[in-house]
Amino acid sequence: MPGPTADLFADDALQQPGGREQIGEESYVLRGYALHWIERLLPELRRVLAQSPFRQMVTPGGFTMSAALSSCGELGWTTDSSGYRYSRFDPRSQQPWPTMPDALRELAVLAAQEAGFIDFAPDACLINRYVPGAKMSLHQDKNERRYSAPVVSVSLGLPAIFLFGGHERSHRTQRISLFHGDVVVWGGVDRLRFHGVMPIKEGVHPIMGSQRINLTFRTAG
Ligand code: SIN
Ligand code: FE2
Repeated sequence: MPGPTADLFADDALQQPGGREQIGEESYVLRGYALHWIERLLPELRRVLAQSPFRQMVTPGGFTMSAALSSCGELGWTTDSSGYRYSRFDPRSQQPWPTMPDALRELAVLAAQEAGFIDFAPDACLINRYVPGAKMSLHQDKNERRYSAPVVSVSLGLPAIFLFGGHERSHRTQRISLFHGDVVVWGGVDRLRFHGVMPIKEGVHPIMGSQRINLTFRTAG
């Protein structure tokens, strides 16, 4: 029976850094694209999170999200009993969100280019933290003012099964394994496709520990 080591090798075999997998007409998984950025990225991320720590937010329907959230950039995505929205201020501190570190912005802009979206100018980076068991239900990213810019999503830590659906919640979804360093970009005709994340499996990532962190860059304002 394969042990944890065998699983790890299987993940590596799937990842093949540098590979670009097309998952939609204008959507790609860039395998391992963020791996070279990790050393620059993690200290910046720590600084952001010291200023605006992860917190669990409540949906308008009254459910507490299993993923904990933070943000950086001019706008941060929030949810509470009165709805989903972007805000200039962290509701916890009433202060502006931390500025988006250059390393994060550059990574997002280059990844967007790699997927065919030139001049991506993100003003919002949502930071999701998933512990084992946490998930993200199928949803569309549609609180942004315009949909002309793509969504760039960076996966760190524990692997996840990403669900990439269609334009209706009921459409069939592709199940895509995402690993530490993978980047997904969707935009254009795919910009409003439903997506989500299956419950994260127990595990310990050698660098990130027992969690998955996802950074989602968007142009919101
Ligand atoms: C999101 O859609 O906000 C997060 C997606 C992910 O965690 O991969
Ligand atoms: Fe999303």
